[in-house]
Amino acid sequence: MVNIRNKREIDLIRESSQIVYETLTLLGENIKPGVTGEELNKIAEEYIHSRGATPAFKGYMKYPKSICISINEEVVHGIPNRRKLKEGDIVAIDCGVLKDGYFGDSAWTYTVGQIDAEVMKLMTITEKALYIGIEQAKSGNRLSDIGHVIQSYVESHGFNVVRELVGHGIGTELHEDPQIPNYGDPGEGILLKSGMCLAIEPMVNLGGKEVYTRSDGWTVCTRDGKPSAHFEHTIVVSDNGGKILSDGTLGK
Ligand code: MF3
Ligand code: CO
Repeated sequence: MVNIRNKREIDLIRESSQIVYETLTLLGENIKPGVTGEELNKIAEEYIHSRGATPAFKGYMKYPKSICISINEEVVHGIPNRRKLKEGDIVAIDCGVLKDGYFGDSAWTYTVGQIDAEVMKLMTITEKALYIGIEQAKSGNRLSDIGHVIQSYVESHGFNVVRELVGHGIGTELHEDPQIPNYGDPGEGILLKSGMCLAIEPMVNLGGKEVYTRSDGWTVCTRDGKPSAHFEHTIVVSDNGGKILSDGTLGK
């Protein structure tokens, strides 16, 4: 069942998403060569608590940290550790927050110093893919219209979308129905309705689409070791496309 949220609920999801935005902004200011995932995790955790919220990932299915940090060939769900970031890395940070019973969830990929031009293109295409997916999140469209435009756009640039992980509904749970693949034919799946709150999150590989999970049980990596990028926003479906709740503009 896909929840339709009323104005009060959307405001609460926006409030949590805003805290995620602020956290991701703060982390961006701290990303530089030499910094570790553990240090960034601590900064995030302290900030989220200072805003009267709870990190949504910590303890979720026994996940041990408050954010996910996925470097280069790591696609998603990297566990913050003592590895130091270095010039030329790309780093995807995923953050979720719970406040007053409602969740927000967003992820950005950052650069560390100067990076390779092809990798920069991977990042810009992934972010753009998210935005064109969000445009399709309008009432009257079908769910698969989102994934279809994301896949078409990404593949037209020679990159590949990951199939194993998907976006999701969000609200009083971090992961609600529906699942939102980043690929597929148009015109399939549920009818989108205003008030549905969704986390849309394309994961795009520079090389092949294949991934595997490391023996830590969490870190998803590309099979060919080439880099991957990830961008995610929490949005609400409206008559003229998705309205972003996690972009720091308080959705106006
Ligand atoms: N944003 C991620 C997702 O929607 C959440 C990370 S999973 C966790 O899948 F276990 F780390 F919380
Ligand atoms: Co998510």
